[in-house]
Amino acid sequence: MSVKSSLERLKMQIRRESSDSEEDNAANKPPQSRGEVKASPAFYQFDKFPEYKEFTTMEWYLDKEKYPRTQFLKRLSASDATVNLEGREMINYSTYNYLGLAGDARVKEAAKRAVDTFGTSTGSGRSITGEIELHRAFETEICEVLGTEDAVLSVGGYSTNTFAIGYLCRNKDLILYDELIHNSALAGCKMTAARRIGFPHNDYEALEALLAENRGKFERVLILVEGVYSMDGDIPALPRLIDIKRRYKALLMVDEAHSFGIIGPNGLGVTDYFDFDPHDVDIYFGSLSKSFGTCGGYIAGPGPLIAMLKYFAPGVLLYGAAPTPANTAAGLESLRIMRAEPERARRLVDNARYFIERAKAAGLDTYNSHDSAVVPLMCRDSELALWLSMALFVQGICVYPMLHPIVPRDKSRLRFFINTFHTHEQLDYTIQCIVDNLRVAPKSKGVF
Ligand SMILES: Cc1ncc(COP(=O)(O)O)c(C=O)c1O
Repeated sequence: MSVKSSLERLKMQIRRESSDSEEDNAANKPPQSRGEVKASPAFYQFDKFPEYKEFTTMEWYLDKEKYPRTQFLKRLSASDATVNLEGREMINYSTYNYLGLAGDARVKEAAKRAVDTFGTSTGSGRSITGEIELHRAFETEICEVLGTEDAVLSVGGYSTNTFAIGYLCRNKDLILYDELIHNSALAGCKMTAARRIGFPHNDYEALEALLAENRGKFERVLILVEGVYSMDGDIPALPRLIDIKRRYKALLMVDEAHSFGIIGPNGLGVTDYFDFDPHDVDIYFGSLSKSFGTCGGYIAGPGPLIAMLKYFAPGVLLYGAAPTPANTAAGLESLRIMRAEPERARRLVDNARYFIERAKAAGLDTYNSHDSAVVPLMCRDSELALWLSMALFVQGICVYPMLHPIVPRDKSRLRFFINTFHTHEQLDYTIQCIVDNLRVAPKSKGVF
């Protein structure tokens, strides 16, 4: 290199560095020197966000109607068929703890033993020393029950569902989901660049029409359904879905949050309720927060699927901590109890049938619920659903309204989670209170 060109390079470098330091100086100057940007306060002040307005409107409405606050109350007992809320004993229709296992002495003991052995945390992700024998034991046993090749246990139900779907679909793929699918699945759909289309609830003609029109335009096609729908308490026709997915070379994923532990002669979910080869469902998702009485989520299915999720799917195991020893031990012990004591699930489904029968005899609308623990009581008006839940609350019955946007306004309802330990007296009392309240219900004012 000549002396001249070396000098030129040096000058250029000095020029570049001095202009960098000018920029640095500018960045440190007070903001007014750059002028103020115009933007609506609705974009940078939380109290101006429309979402916050929605909250204040609801608060205003509750105050206006002199309704008691029923959310975020302090619970002073286990959440079973009854619950103690801020010192008040109530009949409880709001617990996921369908089988009463969250308070079972054996489950609590297993959780305590795990804490004594492994501590309160796994300390890291599973692949880097977070793994404990209980994780694998749970996965092995859930596979035994479902008849799947492998499974992966993760820290949260919602996140497992979301991140598994989010990982599996790409921009050349299509997701067809039942329009009543849970928000965690929708969140997974939104994470992907895949095309997403909802089909009307349980409408397999519509699903097939979508497949006929679109299958050829996409690579992977994922169909999302639930084993028991969390709002309506009904069950999809899985054998029919399996036939469709086979013919269109699609993947079928079933969310078993509300079906595992409940439906089927032994309460062991869709593979127990229906007669099909377990390999015909490609992906089983389950939540440990419902019948398992703890917290966590799993995916079960073919070995290659689980290998990919374990090693590569962010949020399933990667980039996050492992399920805690206590949660894992509780889930495993609950699974063993479910297998050994199918009468828990049977009693639960019998209770739900009894409740539906009595409700229908009293002229109430429990919509499409059958064979499950989820029973909606249709009000079809938001104000009525809210009013009825408040009236029942005052009478010692804890049940929450499902309102827009969780369900469409004309499908507002109370959602009853029936429990294996509800007594017929409690169920009868509840129906009687509903009937009596509806006789004196105020007319809806159309406020929301
Ligand atoms: C159908 C369904 N899927 C997934 C989830 C998320 O599970 P988790 O409560 O374990 O986060 C829920 C929770 O309510 C659910 O109802």
